[in-house]
Amino acid sequence: MNLQNARILLTGACGGLGQELAVQLAKAGAKLLLAGRDRAKLAATIGMIGSGHSSMTADLTSPEGVAEAAGAAHAFGVNVLINNAGIGGFGLYDEQDWSTVARILAINLETPMRLTQAMLPALKARPQAAIVNMGSTFGSLPFAGFTAYSAAKAGLRGFSQALRRELADTQVAVIHIAPRAINTPLNSDAVNALNRALKNNCDSPEAVARQVVTALSNGGGEHHFGFPEKFFAWLNGVAPALIDRGLADKLAVIKQHASVRLPR
Ligand SMILES: NC(=O)c1ccc[n+]([C@@H]2O[C@H](COP(=O)([O-])OP(=O)(O)OC[C@H]3O[C@@H](n4cnc5c(N)ncnc54)[C@H](OP(=O)(O)O)[C@@H]3O)[C@@H](O)[C@H]2O)c1
Repeated sequence: MNLQNARILLTGACGGLGQELAVQLAKAGAKLLLAGRDRAKLAATIGMIGSGHSSMTADLTSPEGVAEAAGAAHAFGVNVLINNAGIGGFGLYDEQDWSTVARILAINLETPMRLTQAMLPALKARPQAAIVNMGSTFGSLPFAGFTAYSAAKAGLRGFSQALRRELADTQVAVIHIAPRAINTPLNSDAVNALNRALKNNCDSPEAVARQVVTALSNGGGEHHFGFPEKFFAWLNGVAPALIDRGLADKLAVIKQHASVRLPR
């Protein structure tokens, strides 16, 4: 994908990763339509990336928000959709009420599927187009304490792979990105404490955004970031019982952090 000619709808544009993606994609020459919920944050991000870009506010978990974003994307001439908006969801599954589970599934899985469907006819009409879905290592290495989030991200991975295969005879590329932990506001203090206790690696949003920009420029369908996470995700595919055992050893620590209500 030549980013000089790209016109990109970026969701979650004011979040930790989204803002860094906006900066780096703009530097690479792309024109951006930023989607978020907070007008002031959007204006600040537009201020950081210069002229020729635009923004819109929408709650993307509502069908109206998705329709507005798709309409704005059409008017902006978008040929790349980056489904980046998401929320975390650390906690024991039986302690999460259904509205929490539903919100996790909605923004992390249903929204990318809806937005993709609304934008596909326009994307198919562009000479070159791409859909980038921001997944997670937990989509291939489902993790205790992140049950609903892992389900959503595993669903997003399956959606990305099936859609890529369905669009193989078109010029629309489907790219699935699976980063490991990133140092952004998505992670609560409890998650950060858990990552320290388990010695989980955590990347900077700048480093992850650089890898996303490279993945989009170079093409290719599946991008898993970080070692050994990439290896464990592969191992989970071929020998999940080994991962079951490894995570069972960490369960007491995960439960301890999940039940502590630290301020964000
Ligand atoms: N941080 C990590 O450890 C990590 C690891 C792997 C993958 N990821 C994935 O990376 C992506 C970006 O996450 P991040 O770390 O940058 O998180 P973040 O800093 O919390 O940003 C998330 C963004 O999503 C937007 N969003 C949430 N709910 C929305 C809704 N209903 N409608 C519209 N926008 C909504 C937020 O908008 P507001 O600004 O309006 O709140 C925010 O801009 C997510 O898909 C996440 O799952 C993150």
